[in-house]
Amino acid sequence: MKSSLVLALLIAPAFLAAQAGPPPAKPAPPWMNKSLSPDERAALLVKQLTFDEKISMVHGTGWDALFGELPLRSLGGAGFVPGIPRLGIPDLQMADAAVGVARGAVFGRYTTPLPSTVAEAASWDPKVAREYGALIGRELHDQGYNMGLGGGVNLTREPRNGRNFEYQGEDPILAGKLVGAEMKALSEQGVIPHIKHYAINDQENGRNFVNIKIDKRAMRESDLLAFEIGIEEGGVGAVMCSYNKVNGDYACENDYLLNQVLKKQWGFPGFVLSDWGGTHSSAKAANAGLDMEQPGGDYFGKELKKDVDSRAVPAARLDDMVQRILRSEFAAGLFDRPADRQAPDIFHGLEVAQHVAEQGSVLLKNAGGQLPLAASVRSIAVIGSHADVGVVSGGGSAQVDPPGGNAVSNAGQAVFGPIVWQPSSPLKAIRAKAPHAKVEFDPGTDPAAAAKLAQASDVAIVFVNQPASEGGDLASLSLPDNQDALVSAVAAANPHTIVVLETGGPVTMPWIDRVSAALETWFPGIRGGEAIANILFGDVNPSAKLPLTFPKSEQDLPRPKLAEQPPAGEGDMVPFIPGTDFKINKRSFDVAYDEGLKVGYKWYEAENKPPLFAFGFGLSYTTYAYSDLKASATSVTFSVKNTGSRAGAETAQVYVNLPAAAGEPFHRLVAWEKIALAPGETKSVTLTLDPHYLSIFNADREAWELLPGRYTVSAGGSSSDLPLHAAVEIAGR
Ligand code: BGC
Repeated sequence: MKSSLVLALLIAPAFLAAQAGPPPAKPAPPWMNKSLSPDERAALLVKQLTFDEKISMVHGTGWDALFGELPLRSLGGAGFVPGIPRLGIPDLQMADAAVGVARGAVFGRYTTPLPSTVAEAASWDPKVAREYGALIGRELHDQGYNMGLGGGVNLTREPRNGRNFEYQGEDPILAGKLVGAEMKALSEQGVIPHIKHYAINDQENGRNFVNIKIDKRAMRESDLLAFEIGIEEGGVGAVMCSYNKVNGDYACENDYLLNQVLKKQWGFPGFVLSDWGGTHSSAKAANAGLDMEQPGGDYFGKELKKDVDSRAVPAARLDDMVQRILRSEFAAGLFDRPADRQAPDIFHGLEVAQHVAEQGSVLLKNAGGQLPLAASVRSIAVIGSHADVGVVSGGGSAQVDPPGGNAVSNAGQAVFGPIVWQPSSPLKAIRAKAPHAKVEFDPGTDPAAAAKLAQASDVAIVFVNQPASEGGDLASLSLPDNQDALVSAVAAANPHTIVVLETGGPVTMPWIDRVSAALETWFPGIRGGEAIANILFGDVNPSAKLPLTFPKSEQDLPRPKLAEQPPAGEGDMVPFIPGTDFKINKRSFDVAYDEGLKVGYKWYEAENKPPLFAFGFGLSYTTYAYSDLKASATSVTFSVKNTGSRAGAETAQVYVNLPAAAGEPFHRLVAWEKIALAPGETKSVTLTLDPHYLSIFNADREAWELLPGRYTVSAGGSSSDLPLHAAVEIAGR
């Protein structure tokens, strides 16, 4: 009796519990209520954080993810900020992702090596930019990353900049719209949309210590306008401030750039993180608007703690920093849609890469209808640039590792490692298009031997390249390694010489009058070979346009000589990455951007220097005619006809000349649209004119102004070919 009572007492609670079902689930914390805004959710969470937890959220764990032992839970991306498990705050896992997710090889991971961003820009097509961003976002999310460090949108102010391939060209509106479309699509994959390098980081030489001198109006109407548009249209959640100084202050502690413009005037609600090693102070930077130090906590760890304790940094400012980080995490779905890792869909990635390369390759010359090639061609000489095995890619933090390793085993050296060749063989793709032709390869190292093969062939296709990388600028705009001599020798041997360029930006072409065709493919990515063959043989009708000017000569640039950092003096070489022997020259120097807002085509037009190939230029295998322009202050309508015999797509462009009072003796791109046209088809297009894009920036009033007066609206197929004009009177405001 006694023992059964004990047994009953023992069993009873378990029995009762079983009857009552599992213990009631803990109610979800209030910040998990999806009907609240990201800002409201973040504010609820900030209240729960201790001082130390707040400090832990505003800096990363150091350079170790890149150069040492991986911090616990880090996936090995360039940036890692541990989350706060007790509150369900996720780890912030950042990976470089300018042209695809970087740093895969060391972990044995594959992601799609896309064509360079400048190819995306050359598509002039927000749909292509969306595809690009969606793919990067999806591959980040698949691997567990919740933030990509892409979205490069520095303008091509210095055509020798080693990072132009990561950016969207020279026009602020084109660049801003495309990076906005890319980032919007990326964020839809549950990844924080990000933009960099804010601002005026337009050359690599001396990038950590150069002081850019530029007036307010110039920067607002050029480089900063690209960021303004991109941030707004992309719903961007994080902005990386750049290494350089702007008008005396480092960009990452620059009150005008961060507090005044980005946060106050543009109303940016997200957070600012420093470029890697770009933080130079605690209180000054925090009070100027920097919200997060990367990659470590040299300043935003113990130093910031002290500064908040001593009130050098208000406690409310620390709360604001954390609020901004959390609201961007909520806005991108980091709490509601945590990473769900899966193998990336490589098949989809290959399709996107090929599509971007096809849409982004610009046909620069096609004399006598040299292209497309007929499949019946009997013999083809393929020459140069390792075209037997691959296509070149851009180096530095943007480098996406090539599947199976570098396609070229003894490739030359880029700044941070070997020049990487993606294994997409143009030679193989060309052979597949012309199975009955004799297609032979010559490496192009000996121009005489290459010319001999060219002479014995119906057609010669010379591949040339100009590798580029973060960390250094190009020595010049000439093709390196004697490639100009190679093209000249081949062109002299065969009148049907086609040049295929793989470059990150413009190059000079002393041989252009002697070749019959030229195709600019940028760094065309993992399906570059296939895309090139599709264009050469007409399966794809090229439709890309240049997003940057190709000058005739470096003499025509605002700075014929690159502005270089003075050589290091005694004690100038300082360690940059702790634990490595990587050192940089800390000598500060000024570069005055006296050309101001005249970036790219605006400069060449104002200075009356006709370029080799103009901004907006690009040929097709068909032709187009423009007619019937009607313009008002708010819109422009015109017709475009496909006057040839092939289907094609034309990017129709609208430029505006401002009234003389603006003091801008050149036109600016204000609208464009890519129009698909069947042979003989005509379409009428109406494009909206955004008053912002017609305005000038009044630096005294810190405001945009639409000047009253007479505006000239022009439409056509490139900045130098605008057959239609109309005058519009604007009352101004
Ligand atoms: C680059 C950034 C990059 C970061 C992290 C820096 O050197 O300038 O673009 O995101 O490194 O790798």
